[in-house]
Amino acid sequence: TLQRTLALVKPDAVLSGHAANIKVDIEAAGFRIISERELRLSPEFVKRFYAEHAGRHFFEGLVDFMSSGQTLALVLERHDAVAAWRAMMGPTDSAAARGTFPDSMRAKYGTDGRRNAVHGSESVDRAREEIRMVFEEFTEESINGQI
Ligand code: CMP
Repeated sequence: TLQRTLALVKPDAVLSGHAANIKVDIEAAGFRIISERELRLSPEFVKRFYAEHAGRHFFEGLVDFMSSGQTLALVLERHDAVAAWRAMMGPTDSAAARGTFPDSMRAKYGTDGRRNAVHGSESVDRAREEIRMVFEEFTEESINGQI
């Protein structure tokens, strides 16, 4: 079935100049980029976005990293988009991904377990929530001048 998912090009990959190549790879894999915006996530937003990881040993580092610079947010559409984008991203740790999935986005564009270049929603329900967070809620907050 046709689905939509949220992809984030994280601050490490944006700063390294990989965003354009990541978009080329995404479109070559048959995704259509429906919406796109570049934004700097606030620490408060990152804490809510990644609330499921609160309390994990890497949480503080994740919040610092994700709010450290510009993020490119993309809404992707394709047949089976959620699973297809997760598969294309590769394993969480970019260094490990280079050994096992060298063609994956994290192997090609990421650095390590935190600075791993891209994010993707993990389910259809979560994709709907994440798209709403980034493309609607974030806009309202920006309009209110809070971010
Ligand atoms: P992501 O798939 O977007 O979801 C959670 C993020 O937390 C993950 O990518 C990494 O950026 C980060 N992360 C997950 N596990 C670790 C870890 N063990 N050490 C540091 N960062 C991690």
